[in-house]
Amino acid sequence: HHIAVPANEPVMSYAPGSPERKALKEALHEAKSKEIELPAFINGKRILEGEKVSAHPPHEHKHTLGHFYRGTKEHVHQAIDAALGAKESWAATPWHERAAVFLRAADLLAGPFRAKMNAATMLAQSKNAFQAEIDAVAELCDFFRFNAYFLQEIYREQPLHSPRGIWNKLEYRPLEGFVLAITPFNFTSIAANLPAAPALCGNTVVWKPAETQIYSAVVIMELFEAAGLPPGVINLIYTDGPVVGDIVFKHRDFAGLHFTGSTGVFQQLWKEIGNNITTYRSYPRVVGETGGKDFIVAYKDADPVQVAVACLRGAFEFQGQKCSAASRAYISASIWPAVKERLLADMKTLKMGSVEDFGNFINAVIDERSFDKIAKYIDGEKANPKAEIIAGGGYDKSEGYFIEPTVIVSTDPKSTTMCEEIFGPVLTLYVYDDADWEKTLELVDNTSPYALTGAVFATDRNVIDQATKALANAAGNFYVNDKPTGAVVGQQPFGGARGSGTNDKAGSALNLTRWISPRLIKENF
Ligand code: NAD
Ligand code: ALA
Repeated sequence: HHIAVPANEPVMSYAPGSPERKALKEALHEAKSKEIELPAFINGKRILEGEKVSAHPPHEHKHTLGHFYRGTKEHVHQAIDAALGAKESWAATPWHERAAVFLRAADLLAGPFRAKMNAATMLAQSKNAFQAEIDAVAELCDFFRFNAYFLQEIYREQPLHSPRGIWNKLEYRPLEGFVLAITPFNFTSIAANLPAAPALCGNTVVWKPAETQIYSAVVIMELFEAAGLPPGVINLIYTDGPVVGDIVFKHRDFAGLHFTGSTGVFQQLWKEIGNNITTYRSYPRVVGETGGKDFIVAYKDADPVQVAVACLRGAFEFQGQKCSAASRAYISASIWPAVKERLLADMKTLKMGSVEDFGNFINAVIDERSFDKIAKYIDGEKANPKAEIIAGGGYDKSEGYFIEPTVIVSTDPKSTTMCEEIFGPVLTLYVYDDADWEKTLELVDNTSPYALTGAVFATDRNVIDQATKALANAAGNFYVNDKPTGAVVGQQPFGGARGSGTNDKAGSALNLTRWISPRLIKENF
């Protein structure tokens, strides 16, 4: 049962006239031609019960994609029972058979599920074809394949000495109980990986997605089913987060939380778990990837074109709704004029609109709450004498939640938009005096509570080394002369510390070990 080191799933081009473009157009048409009922999945059964809620594309309010049914407490109990019921046989399934399910899921996703998964992600999460392909297909295939490979490597490892007459063995068991996955709207791949990674290790899972990601979550459950995942291993429910938490966090068999979302919610959940700590049979594993305020810092000898392109792509791809998005930049005064010229020229070429027009670079932000929050930050800067909006600044929610890519130049390096996570297409820049390079590194390190991603641009090797050292704790993923986004599974394990998470590096063996509870067996003979 040997799993070779996987290759990353190639990203398709969707060029005009290509077969993948044709297939995707057909899938989009199919998805829009009828309203779809989006079921919860408990113990392999599709459930349409509870308050009926309609789902609309963020870029097109007037279209109804379908409906889901907000579940009740009863569904939470059913999902927990299903997970506990499926546990014994799934945990006893040899690791290579569990891995085979996810390897099959990857191949099905790269093949017959590709267009459907992309269409669901495009329509429900307002991502263009290229964003959907990178996220919901390429990254998700990579999570499945690399995690299967990493699991093999973990199981292979027996780092024990067995003297003559003694046999020492580590048994890599799943956690005792069930795992809860609570997942964000912004990445289909992350939403799928949060239940899948613990399940691969032999755990069974209750999965509560973000309401705005339910459409692609249903396609993921269909994919798991087609790949042969037994019923009850992953149970998808749509009950409100606090209701789920109120039941799960009081359950004796709660064994772990796999969370991605905002810092505030994760801190709240951690407190609830802490308050119930005497309830549990084991200390739960608490793994969370949370917010970011990711930086670009450019030294005076950096290439201005590289810096401008990194600002644009880092801040505005995926509408800035990436935990890794560049949202604050520190640019040396001597290169700023050249950076600005290129950035503004490139921004004029960006088109905004529906995902169904493949020429649009910017799509809608996810929902009204996000839209209002981002617009409020922009309005705050319009009224701020220390800030100047040099591009964008407009927004319109009449047809969809559209916000123009916005660049703010701030003379206050500690302004609100330099410090707080906005989670939208907004970049705030601070232009520093060349002489203040070291002070700027301190600013980068001390301005925000987060430490997810960051990038330094410089040519001088000593300066690169100096920044790498000075910013040692400012980012879990640190990039030199590259934008701070676009980590690839198997190449750049992803995660940050401080307010950005427990840094258990999604898509790596480090993450998988959190879902394993080893037993040591010593036998004399
Ligand atoms: P969010 O925190 O609003 O929601 C995340 C999930 O938590 C959703 O499923 C939501 O329904 C649930 N939730 C909210 N309140 C809850 C409660 N009281 N009890 C139980 N569940 C509850 O985040 P979001 O808007 O979906 O995602 C955006 C956030 O996620 C940003 O802060 C972003 O930086 C972060 N994110 C981080 C990473 C990373 O790897 N670090 C990756 C993607 C997104
Ligand atoms: N993997 C995504 C990135 O690095 C979140 O941008």
